[in-house]
Amino acid sequence: MEEQLQPNPNSVTGLTGSSPPLHHDDDGEPVLSSHTLAALNEFLAEQQRDSAAGDSEVSLVSEDWRLSQFWYSAETATTVAQEVLTLCAAANSRVACIACPTLYAYLKNMDPGVSVQLLEYDKRFEQYGSDYTFYDYNHPEEIPSELKHSCRVVVADPPYLSKECLEKVAETIRLLIQPGESFLLLLTGDVQKESAAEILGLHPCRFRPQHSSKLGNEFRLFLNYDPGTRLGGLEK
Ligand SMILES: C[S@@+](CC[C@H](N)C(=O)[O-])C[C@H]1O[C@@H](n2cnc3c(N)ncnc32)[C@H](O)[C@@H]1O
Repeated sequence: MEEQLQPNPNSVTGLTGSSPPLHHDDDGEPVLSSHTLAALNEFLAEQQRDSAAGDSEVSLVSEDWRLSQFWYSAETATTVAQEVLTLCAAANSRVACIACPTLYAYLKNMDPGVSVQLLEYDKRFEQYGSDYTFYDYNHPEEIPSELKHSCRVVVADPPYLSKECLEKVAETIRLLIQPGESFLLLLTGDVQKESAAEILGLHPCRFRPQHSSKLGNEFRLFLNYDPGTRLGGLEK
C-alpha cells in the first residue's frame, strides 16, 4: 500500500506554530524550520515502530477453491498468530502449520525469527523455501524424519470437514508433536466438534475464526489447553 507523508496529528502543532515550516538559509536554499523537522522525525520514527510491530502487508497467493482454500481474514490470522507467538514466548519452540498457509505468512510477518514449518499440498508455497514441506493428508505418515516429534506447537486446518480427514490429519499431528508440554490448535467447522473431542481431546474456545470470503459453515478454534482469558477463554 502506498504510504503518504501525513504527520501524527499530535505533532501537527509543530507545523502551525510561530515559525513558518519553510524558510531560506543565507545562500537562499529552502530549509525546514526546527519545528517542522522535529515533526518529520517523529513521523519517520512512528513509521518504523509500525513496521516493526508487523503492520506491513502480508502477501498471499490467490485462493484456489478446488483445493478447498479459504484464507483467514486479517483479524483472524493476526489473532491466531499472536496466540502462537504467546505460546512460543516461554521456550524456544518450533511451530508446525498444517494446511494453514495464511497463518504461516502472518507468523513470519509478525516475528521473522520464529521457527515455523508449513506442511501444505499446494506447491505454490514452495516460495517459502526450506520452511515448506509438501503434505497430502491421504499419506499422513509421509513427513520428513527430522520433523518427527520436533514441534511444541501444532496448528492445523484440514481441507475437508469429514471425520476421515480429521483422523488422518490427527495421525500427522501425533507424529509432529514433541514429548512433554505441547500445544495443539485446530481450526475447523463447528460440525467437527464431537470428532475433535473424540480423536484429539480438544475443546472449543469462544474466539470465532473468520475468512476473507463468507463461508456457509461456522468455524471454531479447538484447543488442547486452557488459554485463560485469551481467545475469549474456553467455552464452558
Ligand atoms: C480450509 S483451507 C485452510 C486454509 C486456512 N484457512 C488459511 O487461511 O491458511 C485447507 C488447506 O488444505 C490444503 N489442501 C488441499 N488439499 C489437501 C490435501 N490433499 N492434503 C493436505 N492439504 C490439502 C489447501 O491447499 C488449503 O491450504
